[in-house]
Amino acid sequence: MIEIEGITKSFGQLQVLKGIDLNIDKGEVVSIVGPSGAGKTTLLQIIGTLDRADSGRVIINGTDVSRMKEKELSAFRNREIGFVFQFHQLLPEFTALENVTIPALIKGVSAAEARKQALEMLKFLGLSDRASHKPAELSGGEKQRVAVARALINNPAVVLADEPSGSLDTKNKEELHNLFFELRDKLGQTFVIVTHDEGLAGQTDRTIHMLDGRIV
Ligand SMILES: Nc1ncnc2c1ncn2[C@@H]1O[C@H](COP(=O)(O)OP(=O)(O)O)[C@@H](O)[C@H]1O
Ligand SMILES: [Mg+2]
Repeated sequence: MIEIEGITKSFGQLQVLKGIDLNIDKGEVVSIVGPSGAGKTTLLQIIGTLDRADSGRVIINGTDVSRMKEKELSAFRNREIGFVFQFHQLLPEFTALENVTIPALIKGVSAAEARKQALEMLKFLGLSDRASHKPAELSGGEKQRVAVARALINNPAVVLADEPSGSLDTKNKEELHNLFFELRDKLGQTFVIVTHDEGLAGQTDRTIHMLDGRIV
């Protein structure tokens, strides 16, 4: 479902990715681990079409994203890729419901339908009673679950998560990790998760170890 072939990437003189090949199946939960500076975030950003490789190909659901122009790419990203970051990156002036609704509105879904979908997603994630709260009124764990709801609203091909539980306490961490597997089991959702958490990496279907720009 995701095919990555021969990805290289440099920033100036520094070669950060030195030829990455990776295939990920639908419904697979893959973790990427490795020391700081190994290139994990750069790889995730390239898979997520937020950055471009210098060479190589990224094929998502049969589409070669390396060839797409910026405008098609942003529409593709909106539909097919969900992101969860270490810090929720919710918009502070909007409620949980509005934050979850935004990607559906961008996709072109009507306001009424987007609201309905967002409410369903929040309900599915056990957040119904938090819908009208702004991020500052939510706990860390709730904010991350709202971020997950936002990532899922357009039914993406893949959810990419970069240290999603890195700022959570143990209990919220475990809840978030369990949520990923629940979403895989119930929705067939594919996940690629960069993590330092050995517990989470151990639970995933496959762990990719990165070191110095390579998979080892
Ligand atoms: N936009 C950038 N410009 C210059 N150097 C960068 C940029 N992004 C990342 N790097 C460098 O690339 C290397 C890999 O970074 P990153 O992919 O963030 O690693 P990781 O997520 O594994 O810690 C690091 O040395 C980092 O400083
Ligand atoms: Mg990183």
